Amino acid sequence: MKPQIPTPTPFANWPDTLIDPARFRDEQTRLARIWTFLGFTHDVAKDGDWFRATIATRSVFVQRLGEELRGFENRCAHRSFPLRNADKGNGPIVCGFHHWRYDKNGEVVEVPQCALFGPSPGELAARLNPIEIDTCGSLIFGRFAPPGSGPSLRLYLGESFDILAAISATSVAPRFVTRSVEANWRLCFHANVEDYHGPIIHARTLGKSGYPRPERTHYFRFGWHSAFFANPDPDGLTRMAAECRNGTWRSANYRVFQIFPDLTVSHVRVHWENWFVVVVQYAPVSPSRSVMRAWYYRAPFPPRVPPPWYDRLTRPLTNLVRRLVMPYLVRMVLDEDNFVCERQQSIAQQLSPAPILGALEERLAWYEEAYAEAMRAS
Ligand code: FES
Ligand SMILES: [Fe+2]
Repeated sequence: MKPQIPTPTPFANWPDTLIDPARFRDEQTRLARIWTFLGFTHDVAKDGDWFRATIATRSVFVQRLGEELRGFENRCAHRSFPLRNADKGNGPIVCGFHHWRYDKNGEVVEVPQCALFGPSPGELAARLNPIEIDTCGSLIFGRFAPPGSGPSLRLYLGESFDILAAISATSVAPRFVTRSVEANWRLCFHANVEDYHGPIIHARTLGKSGYPRPERTHYFRFGWHSAFFANPDPDGLTRMAAECRNGTWRSANYRVFQIFPDLTVSHVRVHWENWFVVVVQYAPVSPSRSVMRAWYYRAPFPPRVPPPWYDRLTRPLTNLVRRLVMPYLVRMVLDEDNFVCERQQSIAQQLSPAPILGALEERLAWYEEAYAEAMRAS
């Protein structure tokens, strides 16, 4: 085990953005330019399908319009009424307030009683604020940035791109759970990006097997992101990416990817050789509130270890049990973390900007270095 690691001292904006609305707004303005996970392509499979999401607290929506996916800020150009007022749906872009209608480019094409405004909708030149969107497998990301500014999504995700593309290639729509968390989004992410709390906080669930053993695990850092593999292979990330690219990767070992700013993708064995993928996001709402959004689905790879005969034989029954139990299990594990974050938020003004970090919290230090860089860069 390596000794204590240097803490990025002090953590940038810590704890200011957890308590001060102005500092929080400034932070979010900078984060809006960074690729942020929005949702799955499964929710926009058919022409006209749309779903709502947020980028750095700003409401946005993604919509399939013919062959293309488009994204816009969820705000009418007329008087800023939200165009989408549910989590998902299907239909044209028509504002519910005065029925302005928009085309796939976000340009207004119909205005009731248009003469009140001018000769034609075209001359009004009113349009929605577009967001740049791109996909990695079935994961949709977006950002408020003019196309071509900043890295492409592929470049941003680096070595994880091919892994995330493969790991999200599920033929079945992911199941979804959500809840409001009374804690800052970054506190929530901190609980996801270190391995020191498992045996204490997840004593009944994920942490049953004790602390991770360094000789059996490996950490990876790529760009602003990191990963933990329950496998000591120092080339594990490169190897997994190559095998995902050529379709030969098989489910083995607990693995978790943390993608800056707020996405965690875990590959976890739930029972015998039944592997699942759990995708978790803590979307910022205010300095002291976040929305947890979590999706889960069966991992889209055969297991590396062939399932034992009793696993194969009982699957019709155990699949049913897992289907019923999984939402409770996912909620239970995440609520164990949420409980910690809410307690920390309750004394947010007293949080030290210079925590003491150990080797199992190394990725938290990396994360904070990325955060500081993101605040400087934008
Ligand atoms: S606010 Fe949307 S049409 Fe008036
Ligand atoms: Fe945790």
